Amino acid sequence: MDPKKQTIIFVLIAVIATAGIVAGITYVIMAPAPEEETDALEIYHWWTSGGEAAAVGALVDVFKGLYPDTIVTQLAVAGGSGTTMIPIITSLVLAGEAPDAFQMHAGYEGIDYYEADLLENINDIWADNNLEAVIPDVVQSMCQFGGDYYMVPVNIHRSNVVWYNLEGLDSIGADPKAISNWTDFFDVCDDWELATGKDAISLGEAWTQAHLFEQILAGEGIDVYESWINGDIISGTDADLLAALTILETFMTYTNADFNSLSWDEATDLLIQNESIFNIMGDWANGEFLVANSVYDDDYGTIGVPGTADMYGLVVDAFQHPAGVAHPINSDRWLEVVASKEGQDAFNPLKGSISARTDSNLTLYGPYHDWTFADFESVTYMFPSVVHGSGAPQSFSSELSSVINAFCTGAATKSATAIAIALLASSNAADFTTVWVLD
Ligand code: GAL
Repeated sequence: MDPKKQTIIFVLIAVIATAGIVAGITYVIMAPAPEEETDALEIYHWWTSGGEAAAVGALVDVFKGLYPDTIVTQLAVAGGSGTTMIPIITSLVLAGEAPDAFQMHAGYEGIDYYEADLLENINDIWADNNLEAVIPDVVQSMCQFGGDYYMVPVNIHRSNVVWYNLEGLDSIGADPKAISNWTDFFDVCDDWELATGKDAISLGEAWTQAHLFEQILAGEGIDVYESWINGDIISGTDADLLAALTILETFMTYTNADFNSLSWDEATDLLIQNESIFNIMGDWANGEFLVANSVYDDDYGTIGVPGTADMYGLVVDAFQHPAGVAHPINSDRWLEVVASKEGQDAFNPLKGSISARTDSNLTLYGPYHDWTFADFESVTYMFPSVVHGSGAPQSFSSELSSVINAFCTGAATKSATAIAIALLASSNAADFTTVWVLD
């Protein structure tokens, strides 16, 4: 072949080959990564009441504002405090089918996943977003296992709140701010029942009864609560335990009879509807008052559960990056939104909780929050909730609900209940791995 022709063919082949390689490289660079092909985010939570749904909707909207092309699927499993969702999510995570993120309480609740290597270490998300500078120490430590971060908090709820109906209290001339102990509280209940023939306190299903017991126990003193969450109340004749059960016994004489069949928000709604004067519930209840257009300090108000005015019961909702999720980039993006100032300031004003960040924009919150933001700064003691996953091992917490429920329904005596609670601590002793110091 003519050497000139040979050179031209050679050059042509080289050009075609180079173009092919370039096209290939371009394709690899331009082609969507598998994540982008199905640009989706799937999250689980149990926020289904009116206030809860509004709050998580606002948080998802912040995410969508940043990532408008991502399809967000919320799988909302009804059942306050996660009673229904937690067993479902546990089987999904253990089967390697975890969603991209799910609602979880900070603290003990996630420890089994961590120990089974089913959570990703997210130290980089904490560092990149400078979270240690804005999240209080007490919450930081609840988001760690083995000294590393495995979740980000979205809020700080207060557990030890008495919600009162101002119209009801006014009608019997009672001043809620004058209630400082259980005797005062039950006196007001007597007055209301005498005047109206209605039950003074609205109460709901089993976990809300355990929630109530936890607040009563905290009211017995921070040292009592500390012993309890360290697994050190192991005697059924413990005087503080029996005293707390005695208060609970009296409390039950003032509640609606159908408590076992009401969800937490249905119980709060009884108060909103003027059917009761008191409801003890965490401050997710504030979301229900907002949805009902009730006005703080006008229609309703709050005080600390008797004996706990100087304490803040901590319930911290969090999200994590489970191992092997379908959309790892979106999982991280979700965590960044959850932890962000904008995300928290959209979510928490509607949720009732305060932001888990110290730099939140207080003008976005309402009058109820003035009380909690101020108390969070000024109380002497904070105590992590057992019923809401943080303070004690999960098995202790879930069994506690049945034990307290048996007492509230009259199926178990006080001494049998005290023995059962003490036994829970001994039988789960090996799982109490955190040593709490609450003073
Ligand atoms: C708690 C949770 C709150 C609220 C409440 C009632 O466990 O931390 O965010 O949702 O249950 O469902």
